[in-house]
Amino acid sequence: MTKVIAISNPKGGVGKTTTAINLAASLAIAEQRVLIIDADPAGAVAAGLGLLPATIRGGIFEIFSGSARLSEIIHPAGYLNVDLIPANIFSSQQEIRIWEMAKNRIRLKNFLSGYLYSGKLPYDYILIDTPPSLSDLTIGALLAADSVLIPLQCGYYALNSIGQLLEMIERIRKSANPELRVERIFLTFFEKGTRASHISEQSARRDFLHLLSGAVIPKNAAIGYAAFEHKPVALVDIAAPGAQAYFELAKEIINNQRAPFPVG
Ligand SMILES: Nc1ncnc2c1ncn2[C@@H]1O[C@H](COP(=O)(O)OP(=O)(O)OP(=O)(O)O)[C@@H](O)[C@H]1O
Ligand SMILES: [Mg+2]
Repeated sequence: MTKVIAISNPKGGVGKTTTAINLAASLAIAEQRVLIIDADPAGAVAAGLGLLPATIRGGIFEIFSGSARLSEIIHPAGYLNVDLIPANIFSSQQEIRIWEMAKNRIRLKNFLSGYLYSGKLPYDYILIDTPPSLSDLTIGALLAADSVLIPLQCGYYALNSIGQLLEMIERIRKSANPELRVERIFLTFFEKGTRASHISEQSARRDFLHLLSGAVIPKNAAIGYAAFEHKPVALVDIAAPGAQAYFELAKEIINNQRAPFPVG
């Protein structure tokens, strides 16, 4: 059974794309077959996986325009068992077009269920990266997903950001996708020993305990550096705290069990 997980948070820069890339790598190292769909027109996942624009033959644009041929839109990452359907938006015209087409919010779901049904997407996990907004593309991803994985950046403004997302998930559960679950909320950019991270952790535990992951992603320079290498951090420095934390998150998702929350 393929599990479709949307990675979402309406706030920008909280680690959605980083999570798509690094969780995919950690799942793949555990011999899971993974497809990332980049549903953010910014298209950062391709660069994160080392795919040059010139090698991209197709992507989400074709999913929405209805001319998708799997062989043209699925690109192997070049390492591990990770494939990508990139956000192949290279001009302002294409960006305008994709937002127009995305008003058909059910399009991604129909695309996925068609191919999943016919066995043509042989993946254990499909991770959908989403834009930093509660827009049509994000809603389309939530309609297509089995669950939502929510990075929660340690810090005051970030804590406020996920209330609206949770409300939207609830609305979607009551209407178009009753099976939609919150996979996990997990802390990221965690800095041990700082008051801001400590308060964020306490608030997250108070407000979301039953949804909160035991995996905590630290603020880790190796994660930022790996992006410049166009690789997941585990392939640049497997011992880095960030790599270990993403393994922990992958383990939780594979085992479908929450790791104990680290103390302190
Ligand atoms: N745990 C971390 N430690 C250090 N740097 C990180 C960490 N997570 C992400 N980053 C860096 O923070 C920046 C923002 O991360 P990312 O692009 O994943 O966020 P995003 O939520 O996808 O942003 P957007 O909303 O714009 O799509 C990137 O430069 C990334 O390398
Ligand atoms: Mg992003």
